[in-house]
Amino acid sequence: MRDRPKILIVDDEKLNVDLIEAFLIPHGYEILRAYNGDEALEIIFKEQPDIVLLDVMMPGKNGFEVTEAVKNNPETIDIPVLLVTALSDRESRIRGVDAGADDFISKPIDKTLLIARVRSLLKIRAFNMLQKEYRKSLEKEVSKLTEDLQKMYDKLKQAYQDTIYRLSLAAEFKDEDTYNHIRRVGYISREVSKALGLDKNLQELIFFTAPMHDIGKIGIPDDILFKPAKLTKEEFEIMKQHTLIGAKILGGSDVDYLKTGAIIALNHHEKFDGSGYPNGLKGKEIPIEGRVVAIADVFDALTSRRPYKEPFPIDKSLKIILDSRGTHFDPDVVDAFFSVKNNILEIKEQFKD
Ligand SMILES: [Fe+2]
Repeated sequence: MRDRPKILIVDDEKLNVDLIEAFLIPHGYEILRAYNGDEALEIIFKEQPDIVLLDVMMPGKNGFEVTEAVKNNPETIDIPVLLVTALSDRESRIRGVDAGADDFISKPIDKTLLIARVRSLLKIRAFNMLQKEYRKSLEKEVSKLTEDLQKMYDKLKQAYQDTIYRLSLAAEFKDEDTYNHIRRVGYISREVSKALGLDKNLQELIFFTAPMHDIGKIGIPDDILFKPAKLTKEEFEIMKQHTLIGAKILGGSDVDYLKTGAIIALNHHEKFDGSGYPNGLKGKEIPIEGRVVAIADVFDALTSRRPYKEPFPIDKSLKIILDSRGTHFDPDVVDAFFSVKNNILEIKEQFKD
């Protein structure tokens, strides 16, 4: 509240304004004047007075209309309005209450009564201002807390992502893959998910959990995993188990991330034509999470160096993907993959081995 409260006097009779001003000036108030409703509203919005002393009968906007305008605006609703009515004009008082006036005073104005009303309205005004300030500081505090919480959440997510990478790496240590392969599969899967228009939440789940697709390799004997020659039929049967082992490691949890991780571990070797493993699922029977990660995993493996092979050129790898449209891979997923080809090549560049 200001040191010198501002009081706006509104009356179309200049003499009335002079009179009221003469009553108030000795009490140290700053006085503003207006001679019609429109002028009054302009000053109210600009100056935010602490009280408005308002005559009812005025040409143009009358006192009720001005009161309504003040009370219907959140910026001015807290400014007390003191209506000046003719003595015992009951009708005007009822309309004034409806319009939102805070108090009344009758003409001819009694000086003592006027000062008493003004003081009590100023107290209400001060209380309202205090409350407003308190509300504002509370809002500020809440938004700061929300921001802190968001930061903590981001940190936690970051820690979570890093833990997944490291955990997946534990499995990959038994394999030829690299930390960057794990990351790339996550990023490429997210690009493809986006291009497919999957739900935002699902895009994020796939992004975070695709890196765990081979976590089940932790359960495959080293002599099979590291065999430099082609696997025998029996050995390959054991190798296939990494999908089931992964699903077992990640499954049975209520946490969305682990649930999605389990779906991906189980289904990333299924093929669209039904010739994949472990369940030989066909077409759209294969969960979309599996269909997406399959393409990301194969493309990244083709274009990466392995102890037994040089990386295939990008063009050759892309052709292999395209040739497998409808056999190994879901045609829709292949189309989505090619629609974001440039982004995928950028990811390859960004997370080079
Ligand atoms: Fe795999």
